[in-house]
Amino acid sequence: MSTRPGKPGPATPAPGKLALPELLQMKARGEKIVMVTAYDAPGARLADAAGIDLILVGDTAAMVVLGHDSTVPVTMDEMLFLTRSVARAAKRPLIIGDMPFGTYEASDDDAVHNAVRFVKEGGADVVKLEGAGPSLSRVRAISGAGIGVMGHIGLTPQSATVLGGFKAQGRTAEQARQLYEDALALERAGCFALVLEAVPPPVAERVTEAVTVPTIGIGAGAATDGQVLVYHDLLGLYEGRAPRFVKRYADLATEIRGALQRYAADVREHRFPEEQHTYSIPDEELAEFEAELAAEQVQR
Ligand code: KIV
Repeated sequence: MSTRPGKPGPATPAPGKLALPELLQMKARGEKIVMVTAYDAPGARLADAAGIDLILVGDTAAMVVLGHDSTVPVTMDEMLFLTRSVARAAKRPLIIGDMPFGTYEASDDDAVHNAVRFVKEGGADVVKLEGAGPSLSRVRAISGAGIGVMGHIGLTPQSATVLGGFKAQGRTAEQARQLYEDALALERAGCFALVLEAVPPPVAERVTEAVTVPTIGIGAGAATDGQVLVYHDLLGLYEGRAPRFVKRYADLATEIRGALQRYAADVREHRFPEEQHTYSIPDEELAEFEAELAAEQVQR
């Protein structure tokens, strides 16, 4: 029987792609894992060039790209469109498709069906979903189908209404205990990593020590195995209210607005385009063209 190398898929990562076991090794070495969201090819290419380990095509796209005021409305087809652009551009980072609200809650079958779409149609390497409780069975089903699953607990924006708003979680002993148990249960269910969002640092630290898989924090302090920020937040591209855990590394909205204003002023004041922005035509060709037009005008 001959063995033929298959097309890279979830079971055979593309050459140069960060492999899931490397994340466990990074945790063991105490080497921080860096994750950022991206929603298009230019963002993904820059994240790859910057040495980012994990790219999440987050459902935050609903807010920072599509203009909604929560993550809930984004659809599976919209997420696939964005994920495809990211997958085309990023080579080394692991690409995580964020399962949008309504695509995994109803049944394990729905969850597997949509996770498979992320991999087959979107080019994602793995998927992420929110919550524990009913999500545990979804994690078992998706990972049983051969697709890696990242969990997400603490503040889970898809259920912000049930949580009483966009609030930090795990701030009472009872909530902290629940979060801790949820993390252990998600690990047992098969998650390869866990996002901890808006959780007090000592609670995130206990969870990070208790699980063998890496924890990726966002608003969870410095003890988690890695950090994630939303692309538009860290680059200052999102001008809505940013949560307190955001650190802005650039103010691109101001840069972009300024550049657009300068362009508009140049056009209106006849400073753009200049000669170097145009194409030439040989003098004799132009002379012939103009002579033809002149002759036609005489005839009319
Ligand atoms: O959708 C997203 O961007 C996320 C991150 C905030 C972790 O889930």
